Amino acid sequence: MTFAPLKIGNLSVFPVVGAPMAGVTDAPFRRIIRRFGQELLWTEMVLAASLVHAHKQTRKMALCEKTDEPIVVQLEGTASDIMAEAAQIIEETGRAQLIDINMGCPVPKIVKAGGGAALMNDPERAEKIVKAVVAAVKLPVTVKFRLGWDEEHLTYLDFGRRMQDAGAVAVTLHARTRAQLYSGKAEWSAAARLKRTLHIPVIANGDIRTPEQAARCLNETGADAAAIGRGLLGRPWVLAEISAFLNSGKMPEPPDLCALVLDHFEEMEKYYGYKAVFIARKHIAWYSLGLANSADFRRRVNETDDVAAMRALIRDFFGGENG
Ligand SMILES: Cc1cc2nc3c(=O)[nH]c(=O)nc-3n(C[C@H](O)[C@H](O)[C@H](O)COP(=O)(O)O)c2cc1C
Repeated sequence: MTFAPLKIGNLSVFPVVGAPMAGVTDAPFRRIIRRFGQELLWTEMVLAASLVHAHKQTRKMALCEKTDEPIVVQLEGTASDIMAEAAQIIEETGRAQLIDINMGCPVPKIVKAGGGAALMNDPERAEKIVKAVVAAVKLPVTVKFRLGWDEEHLTYLDFGRRMQDAGAVAVTLHARTRAQLYSGKAEWSAAARLKRTLHIPVIANGDIRTPEQAARCLNETGADAAAIGRGLLGRPWVLAEISAFLNSGKMPEPPDLCALVLDHFEEMEKYYGYKAVFIARKHIAWYSLGLANSADFRRRVNETDDVAAMRALIRDFFGGENG
């Protein structure tokens, strides 16, 4: 099975990429994913208004490392001038290859303010944002959206056309409505329809967790790439598994889980300091899913607020009977 590389702007990358996940695809997790050779990754969603108002944590989130390339920085916002300014700040860092605009986030706080998936209900505003960002930066601009607000408003084809006409160089479709949140099954046939409608690259997204599913999604949709979100949770090597399988039909050996979790925790400590112990809990829990006695392990992880104790817990659990 050979799939053509995904070409966006000057990039030409393997056509299976990592989707953006707030609270998950931070710099430490991306470092771990990249160890397995992954090319294109997305940052977490960066709130444009916080970036422009110089919130320290948001600036840190948006400033990627030189070794963290190629990278797409994703912006969220509702005001075109703020979005344009935020995009300029990103461009000035010299550490991003693409800027993506979030028009799919279903979280109430975001949509109530008119952002994320709510922009699918206000396509004129969405167009204005894309045009303003495209005019403000040289970096290529992409948009990520859903099927529409709900089953009665499946607007993705018209919306995709509008984004393309406004200057987006590629789009990602999470093939669910906002009303579905993350439930139900992603409608890959919609990605196929969007691909036939647009002339810019289309990235299909939703419910891809295995190499077989990635191959099937690419074949069935004709999309230029597939993006993986939740499949990465606790499995940062999954993109490498998919690329090895698609290139050679063979699956690589799974990594040493104990060493990997310890390394991930160390990367988080370097990045977040003492807060790592709290932020790491969810990741450590995901790594343990499906392993023997993991429910008890997760309970203990959630009660631990000490870095050395967390390290010992990881060593005991992943290096012991689960090693
Ligand atoms: C914890 C979590 C955080 C997410 N954060 C973002 C985000 O910041 N920006 C975005 O565009 N999508 C976000 N998503 C959606 C994913 O990028 C993806 O579209 C969705 O999970 C469907 O793909 P999957 O089935 O491979 O997970 C998030 C999803 C999850 C589970």
